[in-house]
This record gives sequence, C-alpha cells and structure tokens, in this order.
Amino acid sequence: MRSSTPPRTFAKFAVVFLLLLRVESGSGTNARTCPSPCACLRELVDCGRLKRGQTLPAVIPEWTVELDLSHNKLQVLDSTLFSKLQHLKEIKLNHNGLEEIPDLGPYASNITVLILANNKITAISEAQLRPFLALETLDLSNNNVGEIKSGSFPALPLKNLFLNNNRLSSLEPGCFTNLSSSLQVLRLNRNRLSNIGPKIFTLPHLQHLELSRNRVRRVDGLTFQHLPSLRSLKMQRNSLNRLMDGCFWGLSNMEVLQLDYNNLTEVSKGWLYGLLSLQQLHLSHNTISKIKSDAWEPCPKLSELNLSSNHLSRLDESGFANLGVLDRLDVGNNRVSFIADGAFRGLSNLQMLDLQNNEISWTIEDMNGPFSALDKLKKLFLQRNQIRSVTKKSFSGLDALQHLDLSNNAIMSIQANAFSQMKNLQELRLNTSSLLCDCQLKWLPIWVAEQTFLYCVNASCAHPQMLQGRSVFAVRQEEFVCEDFPKPQITVQPETQSALKGANVTFVCSAASSSDSPMTFAWKKDNEVLNDAEIHNQAHLRVQGGAGGETEVTEYTTTLQLRNVEFSSEGRYQCVISNHFGSSYSTKARLTVHSEFGVGCVIL
Ligand SMILES: *[C@@H]1O[C@H](CO)[C@@H](O)[C@H](O)[C@H]1NC(C)=O
Ligand SMILES: *[C@@H]1O[C@H](CO)[C@@H](O)[C@H](O)[C@H]1NC(C)=O
Ligand SMILES: *[C@@H]1O[C@H](CO)[C@@H](O)[C@H](O)[C@H]1NC(C)=O
Ligand SMILES: *[C@@H]1O[C@H](CO)[C@@H](O)[C@H](O)[C@H]1NC(C)=O
Ligand SMILES: *[C@@H]1O[C@H](CO)[C@@H](O)[C@H](O)[C@H]1NC(C)=O
Ligand SMILES: *[C@@H]1O[C@H](CO)[C@@H](O)[C@H](O)[C@H]1NC(C)=O
Ligand SMILES: *[C@@H]1O[C@H](CO)[C@@H](O)[C@H](O)[C@H]1NC(C)=O
Repeated sequence: MRSSTPPRTFAKFAVVFLLLLRVESGSGTNARTCPSPCACLRELVDCGRLKRGQTLPAVIPEWTVELDLSHNKLQVLDSTLFSKLQHLKEIKLNHNGLEEIPDLGPYASNITVLILANNKITAISEAQLRPFLALETLDLSNNNVGEIKSGSFPALPLKNLFLNNNRLSSLEPGCFTNLSSSLQVLRLNRNRLSNIGPKIFTLPHLQHLELSRNRVRRVDGLTFQHLPSLRSLKMQRNSLNRLMDGCFWGLSNMEVLQLDYNNLTEVSKGWLYGLLSLQQLHLSHNTISKIKSDAWEPCPKLSELNLSSNHLSRLDESGFANLGVLDRLDVGNNRVSFIADGAFRGLSNLQMLDLQNNEISWTIEDMNGPFSALDKLKKLFLQRNQIRSVTKKSFSGLDALQHLDLSNNAIMSIQANAFSQMKNLQELRLNTSSLLCDCQLKWLPIWVAEQTFLYCVNASCAHPQMLQGRSVFAVRQEEFVCEDFPKPQITVQPETQSALKGANVTFVCSAASSSDSPMTFAWKKDNEVLNDAEIHNQAHLRVQGGAGGETEVTEYTTTLQLRNVEFSSEGRYQCVISNHFGSSYSTKARLTVHSEFGVGCVIL
C-alpha cells in the first residue's frame, strides 16, 4: 500500500497540469500568438534589434498595444503593417534609417507615444503629423531637422517634445503655437540655435525647457516672459556672455536654472529679476569675477548656489546678502584670496560651504572668526588652499560643524584647541608634511587620539631637522621642544597714528626668525594687499642668548612709506612677514587724517 501512494499523487498532478495547458491554448482564435522572430510580453511586441537574415513579420498581431521596431535599419515602413492595429498606443522606431515621419495607417490617431530618435529625418511636416491626433510624446532626438517653421505642427495634444541633437539653427516665431495648450517638456539641447526671439516660447503650460549646448550668446530682456509655468531651464554650454536686464523676467515659478559652462562674467540683480521661486542656481564653469551688490535680492528662496570653477578672487562684504534660506554654497575652484569681514553675513541657514581649491591663507591664519556668522554650518571644505597655520580664532562660531576638510594645505602650525570648540565634529581631514613639530604642537597627537570622531589625519614634521619626515603620531611628547623659532615672530608692531592731510607717514614693523629661509614682506590696508606701495626692508643679524645657549637670530624691519596722505589714506594698516615656515601678521594700526582746520575740532 505505502509504496503505491507516490506514483498516484504524481499522476494527479500531471492531469491538472495538462488541463491547465489546454485552457491556455484553448482560447483559440483570440490567442496571443507572438509573431516570429519577435518577442512578446503582455501587450508589448518587441521586434527590435532583429538579427541579420531575420525580417519583420508580415502581420503584427491586432492586440498589440506597444510595438518596438527599433534598431532595424528600416528606411521605409509599409503602412499596411499597421492597418489593423487599433489598440496601438506606443511605437518605438528609434535607430533606423527613416527620412521622414512615417505613415502609420488609419489608427495612427490612437498613438500617444512615437519614438523616432536616431533616424535621418530632415523636416517636421504638418501633413505627416496630422494623423496623430492623440500624440502626447514625440521623440525626434538625433535626427537632421534643420529648422522649425511656423505651421510645422498641427494642433496636437503633445506634452513632451524632444528635439535634442538635430541641426536646428532657427525657430520661426509662432512655430509652437499649435502646441501651446498642451506642451509641458521641450528639449532642444545640442542644436545650433544662436537666437531666441521673445515670442518663440509662448507656452503657458511648459514646465521644463532645455537649451543646453546651443550657440546662444546673449539673452534679451523678456525672452521668457510667456512661460509662466516653467519650473526648470537648462542653458549649459552656450557661450552665453550677456544676460540683459530682465532676461528671465516672468519666470516666477521657476525653481532650477542651469547656466554652467558659459562665459558669464558677473552676477547682477538685473538679470536675476523676477526669479521669485528660484531654489537652485548653477553657474559653475563660467568666468564670473564679480558679484554685484544686492545681486541676490530678487531670489529670496535660493537654497543651492553653485559658483564653482569661476574667476572669483574676492568675496566682498555682504556679497551673499539676502540669501537667508541658502543651504549649500559652492565657491570651490576659484581664485579667492580675499574674504571680507562679513562676507558670509546673513547666511544663517547655510549647511555646506565649499571653498576648496582657492588661494585662501590669511582668512584662516589671521581673521577673527571669518565664519562666525555660519552657526548652522555642518560641512566646510577648505582643501587645496594656501593655509599655513590654523589659530584658535579660525573656526570660532562654527558650533554645528560636523565635517572639516583641510587636506592638501601645507599646514605648519595649529594652535592648541583650534578645533576643540566644534563640539559636533565628526570628521576632520588633514594632510600635511610641513608641520613645525615644536613645543606648541605637543597637544595635537594627544588630542587627536582622544577623539571619537573619524579623522583622516596624515601629518608629518618638516622641522626641526631631527624630526623631519616623522609622523606627528610617532613623535614622543618629550621630543616636542622649542629650541628655535623658524617662523617669523613680530617684535615691533606698527603704531596707530594721526596725521595732517598732505603729510608723509611711515609705519614700521619688525620680526625675528632663527631660520635663514628667505623672508617676504607685505603691507595690507583694510585687509587688502598694497601692491604698489613704497616699502623699505632691512635685515640684521643678532645673537640671542637663551636657556639652550646662544642662537643666531635674524631681525627684519619693514617700513611702509606713505607720502602726501589724503583722507582716503585712512584705514587700518598691517604688515605680513612670511618665510618658508609661514606668515606672521602684525596688529592693525589705524591711520587718521585731519585737515589743518579740523585739528581744533578734534581737540575739542
Ligand atoms: C482607436 O481609434 C478608433 C477610431 O479612431 C476608435 O474607434 C477606437 O476606440 C480607438 N481605440 C482605442 C483603444 O483607443
Ligand atoms: C496649426 O494647425 C493647423 C492645422 O492643424 C495648421 O493649418 C496651421 O498652420 C497651424 N498653425 C501654426 C501656427 O502652426
Ligand atoms: C568662452 O569661453 C571659452 C573658454 O573659456 C573660450 O574658449 C571662448 O572663446 C569664449 N567664447 C566667447 C564667445 O567669449
Ligand atoms: C557644483 O558644480 C560642480 C560642477 O558642475 C559639481 O562638480 C559640484 O558637485 C557642484 N556642487 C554642489 C555642492 O553640488
Ligand atoms: C596629501 O595626500 C596625498 C595622497 O593621499 C598626497 O598626494 C599629497 O601630497 C598630500 N599632501 C600633503 C600636503 O602632504
Ligand atoms: C601621507 O602623506 C605622505 C606625504 O605627503 C604621502 O606620501 C602619503 O601617501 C600620505 N598617506 C595617506 C594615507 O594619505
Ligand atoms: C614728503 O616726501 C616728499 C618726497 O620725499 C618730500 O618732497 C616732501 O617734502 C615730504 N613732505 C613733508 C610734508 O615732509
């Protein structure tokens, strides 16, 4: 008995299986047979990418809803192939050799998606498009269409029109008029458009317009004024160099504007007018060297601003004013060396600031809390700058900072506790082989080892000679000693003074160093280097007695000579004395200038 059970069960299964099969094929004439050599999946008939020797089937099944005929070198289509396809909605004809929009028979009026990309179509013909009464998506990318005339499009319910990579050099005014009540997405990238007239884009429902990789150099005022629903505009890689005042006026719902890889030289309120809803502005890879004052005023909702790879050398006071909701600011890969006090004022919601690959040095070395306005900042990128020293003031106020990247700066000194006020720090990156491993740096290996955050600290000593090349973590505590002072130390500070208009004024500043590395001198007025100033420098050797014996010290004196001072000479003067081991900054001495008649008043 027991042994006969399994075969009987098997037989029962086999019967059920056969019955099922019969039901499948038993639906008789309505069966969804798939024509050879195509493949079918539900309502899709895929006759794309036929192999050599294979030909299209003579009949496409009537039930076809989606048909793929792509990648077949088709040059002509026999319209009778489609004459019974009353259910056809989507047809892919991309990557063939078609030279015109094909005739798809009497049921073309049911087609909603027509993909004709990568063919050889040279013109858009109103007559050829007229049968497609239900068409919503037309892809004509990668063809040879040279122009769009007025009258090219019949009235169609088209929502998506893709014309990337054609040879379009002109768009006739009114050419999109028949699509104006439906068009939502228009792609015209990689064409030859150089002019866009003011009436071309009168498309009240258009949400996305792409014009990248064309030849537009100038955009006139009101060019886009008839696009009230537009949410994004791409105009990358156009050689754009002139954006006239009001050129984006009317785009009051636009959220994303991409203008990367152009030749824009400045940002001004004039061309940003009307962009009330703008959230993202991409301006990387231009030649922007100036941000005009109040430039951002028209864009109160901006949350992401990308100015990377431009020619900015200065970030002026309030240069980012009116950006109270800005979240990410990228100024990497510029030439920034000057950051004014208050440059970041108002950026009270900034979470990420990218300043990598600039020429920043004294901002970090000498300024008092350059980032102190950024109390929500989480990420700060400062790699690849010219930062030689980090002080306690460098990062003050950055209470929320989590990631700090200082790698690829030849950092020589880091003041004790320079990072310790950042209670939320999770990641610190540092790699330098220039450290001055003297008693001042003793704290660093201990502090780093105590941290629980992720750190990528690759730091080795350049000085003293004995420790050269050693990782700072391999130096024993007793080896961090202060026997010399190779970095210049200011010994005489310039003095605050007042002078009569027309007088000659001098400021004097001295520094000493135990190194014979060549010294350079600079004077700054209100943080800006005085390039053409009259400066006299002197050096004299001095022998200095100390606990460790006598050392030879070189003392340097630099004198700034101001002749015939004007009221405009007033300001705060500072000397900067640098050598291989870093820069020292004097205190700032104030100059006040009086007129002869004014003296009495001052005394009063
Ligand atoms: C296809 O078009 C015909 C006539 O144009 C119409 O009667 C039919 O309902 C349409 N079929 C579908 C599935 O839309
Ligand atoms: C609009 O479509 C109609 C017919 O569909 C056509 O005759 C006319 O020229 C088109 N107009 C424009 C401006 O394209
Ligand atoms: C735009 O900038 C590129 C690279 O910076 C330059 O080669 C080109 O000549 C500029 N074009 C114009 C029109 O200024
Ligand atoms: C800014 O643009 C550059 C170049 O297009 C890109 O690499 C970078 O990631 C962007 N920055 C941000 C913060 O997205
Ligand atoms: C930082 O590290 C990279 C390799 O990770 C190295 O090429 C570079 O020279 C280092 N920079 C300094 C300043 O040590
Ligand atoms: C550390 O720095 C040295 C010298 O700059 C470099 O050769 C090495 O590749 C760096 N190591 C890491 C892990 O970055
Ligand atoms: C300032 O210096 C100039 C040039 O040396 C000299 O001619 C002039 O007399 C000086 N002026 C005063 C007020 O000393």
